[in-house]
Amino acid sequence: MYGIIATWRMALEGISEGAKMLDQGQTADDALETAIRAVEDFEYYKSVGYGGLPNEEMEVELDAAWMDGDTLSIGAVAAIKDYANPVSIARKLSTEPVNNMLVGAGAEKYAHKNGFERKNMLTERAKIHYYNRKKEVEELELKPYSGHDTVGMVDLDQFGHMCAATSTSGLFMKRAGRVGDSPISGSGFYVDSEVGGASATGLGEDLMKGCVSYEIVRLMKEGFTPQQACEKTVRSLDRKLKERRGKAGDLSLIAMNNKGEWGCATNIEGFSFAVATEKEEPTVYLVKFKEDGSQYFEVASKEWMDNYMRTRTAPLVRK
Ligand code: GLY
Repeated sequence: MYGIIATWRMALEGISEGAKMLDQGQTADDALETAIRAVEDFEYYKSVGYGGLPNEEMEVELDAAWMDGDTLSIGAVAAIKDYANPVSIARKLSTEPVNNMLVGAGAEKYAHKNGFERKNMLTERAKIHYYNRKKEVEELELKPYSGHDTVGMVDLDQFGHMCAATSTSGLFMKRAGRVGDSPISGSGFYVDSEVGGASATGLGEDLMKGCVSYEIVRLMKEGFTPQQACEKTVRSLDRKLKERRGKAGDLSLIAMNNKGEWGCATNIEGFSFAVATEKEEPTVYLVKFKEDGSQYFEVASKEWMDNYMRTRTAPLVRK
């Protein structure tokens, strides 16, 4: 059995490539790195890699992480600037004996020394988003922060090896130096090949309050299915945050166990995720809610898919 699951529709092209590699018998790590890099490299996805939206100083600072479910090795970068594929740097860091998580200038120095591709990650399109948002915030007195569509993935190869990884530009208009959940083990991601893995997207500040990815893996270890574990974790943190703080930020999680069974839960409308397994072609699902609050999945229609790409790539004008 093999499989790969990821947050958001934007992961579809990446997981399709990854699934092909897994089908050919390639390893979970190579398939996962390829899958995440495809998302990082596509400039129209504005919250990951090239084309990611900048912080309040109009600089693109990226977070990414890597975890190997066999060895439990972890590597992560945070607030790294001017490097094309943060996930590859995170993967390399996971092979170091120590110093596995590097931030800012230290991460950039490491990337330079190890020959990773330098690239100005701020696109003209991202600048237009920045100027438009700045104007909107000033005129409408809005909260500046928005957009936090991290790509988080978990995969399983035919040899039972699992990996997890994340990559994100974090909150649009975040403070310089702000780090979200994505590079934080147990929050943005966690994987153990003896059990399964999970990854998160949403408001990092709230996701970190529940160590959600670790919690899902822990529940799967206790015998819950990936779907039960995701729902239990999201519902319980959502409830707790509302009780204790009056509100809960966006919390969306995906998971896969070491049999290739998968699950997803969210507390927001409009969440999508992409999955492919030995038994299932790459598919995008939309999470929908019934009146009683319970959720179900719908395969994204052709119309939805066409509209998605049309709106992502539509010309942008500065207001
Ligand atoms: N979940 C991504 C972030 O908050 O940065």
